[in-house]
Parts: sequence; C-alpha cells; structure tokens
Amino acid sequence: MTVAKGLAKGLEGIEVDETAISLVDGLHGTLSYRGVPLDSLVAWPFTRVAFLVLDGNEPTNAALRDFEDELAAACTLTAEERGLLDLLAATTAHPMQVLIAWTMICTHDPAHFRRYGDAARGMTIAARMPTALAYLLARRRDREPGPVDGRESNPVTRFLSAIEAPVDPALRQAFEITQILQVEHGFNAGTFAARVVASTLAPVENAIAGALATLHGPLHGGADQAALETALAVGSPEAAAAFVDDCLATGKKVMGMGHREYKVLDPRARWVKKFATELAPGTPLATTAATLVAIEEHFTARMREKHKPLHANLEFYKGIVYGLTGLPTDFFTASFAMARVYGYVAHFIESRRDNRIIRPSARYTGRRPPDVGPCAESP
Ligand SMILES: CC(C)(COP(=O)(O)OP(=O)(O)OC[C@H]1O[C@@H](n2cnc3c(N)ncnc32)[C@H](O)[C@@H]1OP(=O)(O)O)[C@@H](O)C(=O)NCCC(=O)NCCS
Repeated sequence: MTVAKGLAKGLEGIEVDETAISLVDGLHGTLSYRGVPLDSLVAWPFTRVAFLVLDGNEPTNAALRDFEDELAAACTLTAEERGLLDLLAATTAHPMQVLIAWTMICTHDPAHFRRYGDAARGMTIAARMPTALAYLLARRRDREPGPVDGRESNPVTRFLSAIEAPVDPALRQAFEITQILQVEHGFNAGTFAARVVASTLAPVENAIAGALATLHGPLHGGADQAALETALAVGSPEAAAAFVDDCLATGKKVMGMGHREYKVLDPRARWVKKFATELAPGTPLATTAATLVAIEEHFTARMREKHKPLHANLEFYKGIVYGLTGLPTDFFTASFAMARVYGYVAHFIESRRDNRIIRPSARYTGRRPPDVGPCAESP
C-alpha cells in the first residue's frame, strides 16, 4: 500500500487520547488491565476482571458479590427482546448484526447499575448479551431456549450451561480464560468506534452498537470466524504450506496472523494456542487444530525469510476453544463481544469524563470548484 506523505492512514502510531484502562505493549508482547498483568488476570474469575476494568480497582468480596447479583438480576430477556430475536433468528442476519439490532431495544431497568450513571444501560446490555446469544443459538437450531439460571453467579458458566456446552472442567476453564483475554485491548478499532460515537454525546447503546459493527469485520474480531473456517477449508496439515504460499503469492491475508500493535507474539495467542493444542486431540477438531499449527509454522517461517514481524494473533487459535464448546463459527465474534462489551462500557465512562468530539480532517483530492474569486460583499 502506498500512503501519501504526511497522512496518518489507518491512524498507525497516532495517539488520539489518554487512557488508564489497559496497556498494550506491542514491542514486548505484554498486556495488562489497570496495571494487572494478563498472567495474573487469567487466574481470576471473569467477573472480578470485568469489575477491575470498569471500576479501576479490584473489588472487595462483598462488592464482587453485589456486582454478580446485579448482573444476574439483569440477565433475563424481556418478551419484546425475545420477539425481536425470534424474528431475526428466522433471517440470514449474522449473529453480530442480530446483536446490534437487539442492543437498540434492550430494555434497561433504571434500578440496575445506578452507579454507572449514563453508562448503566450499557451494563444491562453486557449482563444480558449472553442470554440473547444463547437464545438466538437455540432458535437457529430449532430448539426451545432453556430457562436462564439466575442463581448461577458466574455469567460465563451461565452462558455455557445455556448453550449446553460439554461439562468438561478443562474446557470450561479454557473458555472463561479466553473471555478474560478479550475484555479489553487499548484503542482497537471497535473501542475507538465506541469512543467516536460517545464523543458526539450519543447514548451508550449507540456506542456499543458502533463498536459491534466494527468488531464484526474480518480484519478485526471477525478474524476468529475466518481463521477457523480457513483451517476447515484447508483440511489437513499437509495442505497448509501450499495454502500459505498461495496467499502470499496472490496478496491474500492469512486470517488470524499479524497485528497493528504486536511486533512479537500476541500474549493472548500464547494462551489460546495452549488450550487448542491441549484440548483438541481426540475431538472432532483435532485435524483442524493440527492444520492451524501447520499454517502458523509455515507462515511464520516465510515471514522470517522476509524479515517481517508477523505472528499469530488472538483470533488464530481461539476458534478451537469456541468450537469445542459447540458454538458454530458464525457465533464466534458475537461470543467475543460478550467479553469486550465490558471494555466498551469502561471506555464510554472514561471518555465522557473529559469529552471532546472526535472529528479528524482529510486531505481533499477531488475536483475543485472554479475559482470564483473573493466572496462578494453581502448586499
Ligand atoms: C491485523 C491487521 C489488520 C493489521 O493491519 P496493518 O497494521 O494495517 O498492517 P498491513 O495490513 O498494512 O500489513 C503490513 C504488511 O504485512 C502484510 N500482512 C499483514 N498481515 C498479514 C496477513 N495476515 N497475511 C499476510 N500478510 C499480512 C501486509 O500484506 C503488508 O505487507 P506489505 O508491507 O508488503 O504491503 C493485518 O495484520 C491483517 O489483516 N491480519 C489478518 C486479519 C486478522 O487476523 N485480524 C485480527 C487482528 S487481532
């Protein structure tokens, strides 16, 4: 790609605001939320991580219980929401597009999440998104959606039960850690979109919808679906090298590879690769996981020859963890959104504390109007 001189195409390397939510260190391959490194966060329950990202501090046990109770109290769909999901389940709309529509009508009870102020409705969306997704999945499978277990304090466990995921403790732990890895990630495209929407003083549900619309793209969160579908299409580890060489020869991107920030291995990819390679053997996804390993090995070897610092990102192996829970590939990015939505709300709150509309400039290259000279004096 050629970029005209002086332009910040893709905003690479441009610092547009300050944030205290997460630190992505792309040179050293580390990530921390509110100063807590990823390797510590993965040992926490999901809700403790979500609270930390939102509030900036680790909760006391009592505060965490209250937070979990509030999430559970807000997790049930209204009849109106179920009606919309029934309608959209019968269409070809992608689950991400269904989520966007549902976000717009998700009903908020003002008694919930009061301390989040004008972001409270966003917390209801976060609390209820797993229920909405499980409901949509059941409908698309022509099954009756099961009741939501409001007594279960962990929303991740609640979701896994609702989608009838296998009751394998190692898989369930891998899924919860995968969700923790995805709560927050600096000024990624979706979060930035949320901040752009928030900067206009539009409501939080609009900011979330804008972020979801952005996350859906295959260069962003949608790479999770694309990477697994690619591995399924490649079919076997033996076919991986020819596939990678063909992509590189024809200028096609290998989905799940490369990152704007990370110049070394994405620290989240290390975790999901470990889960994929440990959990897949002996399952229907064993060959797919082995195919991913072979694609990665060949791709990184070719990149080393070219002296390009491109490695696997989070999306590359994540589909194995998701796939083993029984999620179909088109539900991957929406399942990612269930975690990232907490990050979106945190950014909405942070950006509103010192708001200025985000409005960049562009260099005009189109046809110019004829020079009509200086403006005439007004009559
Ligand atoms: C993540 C991504 C969008 C970052 O984009 P970016 O910072 O704008 O980087 P570019 O797309 O400009 O790529 C820089 C160079 O690396 C190459 N490259 C980057 N990612 C590549 C990939 N996945 N496969 C093949 N080549 C890739 C580009 O072709 C380009 O080569 P060039 O300098 O010879 O033109 C990009 O790496 C990508 O498209 N990856 C695949 C999609 C993906 O996995 N997204 C999830 C991100 S978490």
